[in-house]
Amino acid sequence: MLRGLAAAWGVYTAGLAVLLAQLLRRCRGGFRAPVLPPQPGRVAVVTGGAEGLGLSTARQLARLGMTVVIAGINEDKAQAAVRKIREETANDRVEFLYCDLASLASIRQFVENFKKKKIPLHVLINNAGVMLAPRSPTADGFERHLGVNFLGHFALTSLLLDALSGAPGRCARVVTVASATHYVASLDPDDLQGSRGYSAHGAYASSKMALVLFTYRLQRLMRVRGLRATASAADPGVVDTDLYRHVCWPVRLAKRLCGRLLFKTPDEGAWTSVYAAASPELEGRGGLYLRDEEAARSLPATYDLELQERLWAESCRLTGVPDVAATVLSEAIPDVNSDLRVTLGGCQQPGNAPTWPPRPQQPPPATKPRPQHGCHAPGNRSFEIKPRLQYGFHAPSNRP
Ligand SMILES: NC(=O)c1ccc[n+]([C@@H]2O[C@H](COP(=O)([O-])OP(=O)(O)OC[C@H]3O[C@@H](n4cnc5c(N)ncnc54)[C@H](OP(=O)(O)O)[C@@H]3O)[C@@H](O)[C@H]2O)c1
Repeated sequence: MLRGLAAAWGVYTAGLAVLLAQLLRRCRGGFRAPVLPPQPGRVAVVTGGAEGLGLSTARQLARLGMTVVIAGINEDKAQAAVRKIREETANDRVEFLYCDLASLASIRQFVENFKKKKIPLHVLINNAGVMLAPRSPTADGFERHLGVNFLGHFALTSLLLDALSGAPGRCARVVTVASATHYVASLDPDDLQGSRGYSAHGAYASSKMALVLFTYRLQRLMRVRGLRATASAADPGVVDTDLYRHVCWPVRLAKRLCGRLLFKTPDEGAWTSVYAAASPELEGRGGLYLRDEEAARSLPATYDLELQERLWAESCRLTGVPDVAATVLSEAIPDVNSDLRVTLGGCQQPGNAPTWPPRPQQPPPATKPRPQHGCHAPGNRSFEIKPRLQYGFHAPSNRP
């Protein structure tokens, strides 16, 4: 009970802090759409692309000329979205493919169907999600937030890894939609299902923290394997969508009354994902936590390499996905920076993009970092993040 209240308090405090930051930003001129070059020839999969942030993301990628596959569960809604996007963008290369992230069998079927198309995959947007969903397990018996938000995307990404392909001079990109609620989350890889005390608020926040941990390890894995691909997390802010359908009525009422002023529109919220997926400035850069189209710090615990490793191993066990990271990364230099520019796979920065200087690598730590939440391994980050408004959930002094 107390645990649940604390988790709810954390989630609403995080949301309020973001709303205040958004209000301040609006007073200072508001949000601006990233200016991106057309990208015909690129193929993107957007999970949950039939509504909310996913729909806006799919529409914006289609407008850039990409082929877009909307992966989702509600065929009628998704087909309507496909028609709408085609009309609005004059891009016919938008389609729907069924994928229920609450079922590993459905995810495998989706991957099989996608691969049958024999088209490359350049952008994967792990966007779909549920929040405060009524307590009901997924088809595989996972707690729903864990199963849909995290394990579903973990399995989907892992199974699509070999389909992800960069073009000459271009990396493929995995963009995972995170949330500021991860700043108030905690995560125990040995009890992902929350059997030692469940709260829906806590489960949602933990699933988002898991996605950030996963993103950083995925980035390291892809870099060490020499894949021409990068992985980053995109935090959309607080956005006026149906995600809030299960929150308590006072919050729904407040959203209805102040939504326009305080919340981002779905288009504004999607800009961070679209920027992460398509910006030339980010070519070859991964392992980033992006908020309002800028790199920011995530919760210090998300940089903990051992926590990343334990979560990955447990996720493999639960989903039956082979743990390729265990071998690949155990043979790698322990403090290989996760977000160094990718060069092994041949992705290069386009000539007109700004130079991005990585810091020199630091010597490997003498001992493995301890699995302590709240601290992170030295040397895991490699670039200077612009000072920016922090939401106040982590101390800037924790930076490596
Ligand atoms: N809105 C915010 O303020 C906010 C803030 C931070 C992070 N986010 C994140 O942004 C992402 C998008 O959320 P949203 O705000 O756009 O919410 P939304 O409007 O409720 O959209 C969620 C999408 O996820 C899909 N989905 C749900 N369960 C699924 C399943 N089992 N398999 C496949 N797809 C499934 C839904 O499909 P159906 O429509 O077919 O059910 C829907 O398209 C989520 O990951 C959310 O956590 C949102």
